[in-house]
Parts: sequence; structure tokens; C-alpha cells
Amino acid sequence: MNYQWYPGHMTKARRMMEENIKLIDLVIELVDARIPLASRNPDIDALGKNKFRLVLLNKSDLADERANKLWKEYFEEKGSYVLEVDSRSGSGIKAIHGLVQKACKEKIERDRKRGILNRPVRAMVVGIPNVGKSTFINSFAGKACTKTGNKPGVTKGKQWIRLNKSLELLDTPGILWPKFENQEVGLKLALIGSMNDNIISGAEMAVRLIDMLKERYGGALQQRYGVEEEKENFEILEDIARKRGCLLRGEELNTEKAAALLLDDFRSGRLGRITLEMPDEER
Ligand code: G4P
Repeated sequence: MNYQWYPGHMTKARRMMEENIKLIDLVIELVDARIPLASRNPDIDALGKNKFRLVLLNKSDLADERANKLWKEYFEEKGSYVLEVDSRSGSGIKAIHGLVQKACKEKIERDRKRGILNRPVRAMVVGIPNVGKSTFINSFAGKACTKTGNKPGVTKGKQWIRLNKSLELLDTPGILWPKFENQEVGLKLALIGSMNDNIISGAEMAVRLIDMLKERYGGALQQRYGVEEEKENFEILEDIARKRGCLLRGEELNTEKAAALLLDDFRSGRLGRITLEMPDEER
């Protein structure tokens, strides 16, 4: 997928976010559990200040279980409510309702004191492209829900999905642009496939991934491809090419093909559940 961000897109996305955020009580922020910091845009903290916050560690099925726990604690310490979810299978999704009520307790209490009963919490899903916003909304809202946008008296042009009597969701998610604080962030986004793959070559990405895997998940490459991890990274890539028959004409090794294979195995979880950054490495 190609996500090139131009200033025009960013300005438009930001303006929409600023408009929509006025209408809601709760921000449901999706991050990619494999890179929870690199996949978020910290501007959301300023944009969503005064709003309740629920952070969802999405694609937690692809991330390291131990790391998921640590990241949950990390965001909780920052004052957010947090859940691990897998929007594709729906795992973790049911628990959201209870947590929304908990997160918005103050608001519900405030409403009650003013004599307002049963006013639903209004929420908006936000996240960078490809983090899983549409998949999440489909999974969370399901097919049974009713759209409330076209009823008279409802904010014009806005579609709200009524999940139950206590929660409504804006049906269009807020798109945040990734923030490239440094090259490392760009690399991680490219590795999970959230960025244009053309920015760095496949072989270069594979070499960097091999580096991270050796450091964090020693044995994973050996187990999947039967390669010796003591070798130089590029040699390991060549070994993968050899073992998997990635060849050009004349028996020359096709390392670009081996790189694509490795990246695909990583992205689809075939190398195991892998997280590429940990809270104690916070920049
Ligand atoms: P977006 O709206 O934020 O841009 O993201 P979108 O929902 O389109 O999801 C991007 C990709 O991430 C999709 O895969 C989707 O299936 C996958 N995905 C979303 N949530 C999860 C999750 O919790 N776990 C896993 N493993 N994958 C998730 P795709 O390959 O682009 O499409 P498809 O082949 O699944 O249809």
C-alpha cells in the first residue's frame, strides 16, 4: 500500500480531526501492538486533550504476548485505559463496552447530576493508515447496528453508529499521519507494511529486520529457515535465498525475492509473535 503524505493531505486530515473531536467524549486510539510508539502520532495528545482515552493495542495477535502486557502497563501509567485486541478475529472486542463505561464514568456521573440520563457516550476511532481502523469498526459495530445519521436533529453530514443505548461511534475514523521523528520510526513503519515499500529496498529492509530479530528473537530465523544466525546479516539473507530456491538465471541468488519472502513471513506472523520496540527503550 502506498501512503505518501503531502502537506495538503495532512492539513485536511487534521482539520477534519479538529472538527470531529469537538463532537465526541472519547477517543479510541488504535496503535499497532508490534510498534506501539512508532505507529502513533503524539499530536493526538494535544488534539484529544480533555477527552477520555482508550488505547487499543491492535494486531496484538501478531505481537509478543509479554510485550503486549508491558505496553498495556505503559499506556495505563500515562493515564489511558488500554486493551489488547485482534480486530480481525474479534478477540478482545467485547471487553471494550465495559471499559468505555469505566473510562467515561466522570462524564456519566456529571450528566446524572445535571439530570441528564442515558445520554450515550460518543466516540471516534483514530489511528494511522493501515493500523486497522476499518477492520476494527466493522468488528466492533458488526452488522446489526443502526446508523443514526439521517434522522432529523442529528448533526448534518455526520453518521453515528449506535452500538447500544450507551455508546455511539462516529462512522468515519480519524486518520493520523505517521510521525517520522527519526529514521528508525520510518523503518519500523515500513517493516510492518504501513508505508510505501519503495522508500528503502527490500534487501535493505530485510537486513535491518534480520538485525532486530537476532537481537530480540534469537533463534527465530534459525527455526524458520534453518540458517546460522552467527553470520553477517546479508549472508543470512543469501542463505535464506539458497534454502528457499530464490534464484536468478545462472544460479545467481535472488536476494530481493528472499527479502520479500522474509518480510511477508514476518508481517503475517509466520516468524512468530514479534514486537519491534519495548517501553523501556522509550526515546
Ligand atoms: P485502516 O482502516 O486503518 O487503514 O486499516 P484496515 O482496517 O484496512 O486494516 C489494514 C490491514 O490490517 C488489513 O489487512 C486488515 O485485515 C489487517 N488487520 C486489521 N486489524 C488486524 C488485527 O487485529 N490483526 C491482524 N492480524 N490483522 C489485522 P490486509 O492484508 O490489508 O487486508 P485483508 O487481506 O485482511 O483483507
